[in-house]
Amino acid sequence: MNSPIATSNNSFTATLQDLIEYPTNGVFCKVLIKDNNSEYSLLCLPTGTQIGKHTSTSNIFVTVIEGRGTMNLEGKDIVLAPGVFVFMPANAPHALQAIENLAFVMIKSEQSQPKQGISQKTIDIVKSTAPILKENGRKITTRMYEIMFDKYPEVKAQFDMSAQANGSQPAKLAIAVYSYAVHIDDLEGLKAMVDQIAHRHVQAHVLPEQYPIVGECLLQAIKDILTDAATEEVMIAWTEAYQTLAEVFINREQQIYQTAFAD
Ligand code: HEM
Repeated sequence: MNSPIATSNNSFTATLQDLIEYPTNGVFCKVLIKDNNSEYSLLCLPTGTQIGKHTSTSNIFVTVIEGRGTMNLEGKDIVLAPGVFVFMPANAPHALQAIENLAFVMIKSEQSQPKQGISQKTIDIVKSTAPILKENGRKITTRMYEIMFDKYPEVKAQFDMSAQANGSQPAKLAIAVYSYAVHIDDLEGLKAMVDQIAHRHVQAHVLPEQYPIVGECLLQAIKDILTDAATEEVMIAWTEAYQTLAEVFINREQQIYQTAFAD
């Protein structure tokens, strides 16, 4: 295991040139430092090294320190030389070749982590609304679809309107919202539910930019149905909570879309 030479708890400095080592074959990789989201490594490829087309689930940032090479990123050829910087979004296919000894710093940055740290205040408020959501769940979600189909009629085409008419879809959404209120501090416990809904969303071609629409309509419906119980504090907490849940879905759906369309 390639352990980092420094920890992210303390400041650290290095002269990268002093750390460069070229193996006779293969790739020298030294992890410099790691934190919860990112890993900073020095990579050294001896002349002639080729790395075939591959992808990474992280965002990747490359800064060339010395040497020469070529990279093919999403079909485009890039000349690698000192000072060249390359950003590769997660899952972008790339390949590279060292024309002469090539050293670069690579930063892997996890972009699929849900936002950490919903405040304890928000968690407490959202959890305190669970009983009232259980009691009024169907009314809230029925109202939310009413608002959404009225204000954004273009989304109707994605829905099975018979599941609206017989109330089964509002019922499912009500259970999901209630479960989220209960498990807001234990998102792992929601994994199976998120997975199932995310697969259904991908089938229905739900897109990230549609989440603010559902958010707006859901929050409005909470206000309309809970009236006095929907205090400003409750609405602020649910706005933050919805955003976090939306990110969880968007990230999971992005993974499913990418797997479904990977070659
Ligand atoms: C955090 C927000 C959301 C939650 C909690 C949620 C929840 C759900 C649930 C529980 C289902 C039923 C899944 C099943 O049948 O197994 C569902 C289905 C669906 N959702 Fe969402 N959803 C959210 C956001 C969205 C967004 C942004 C859209 C985009 C318009 C959307 C469109 C759909 C569609 C089209 C279906 C299929 C329903 C049908 O067959 O009529 N959802 N969602």
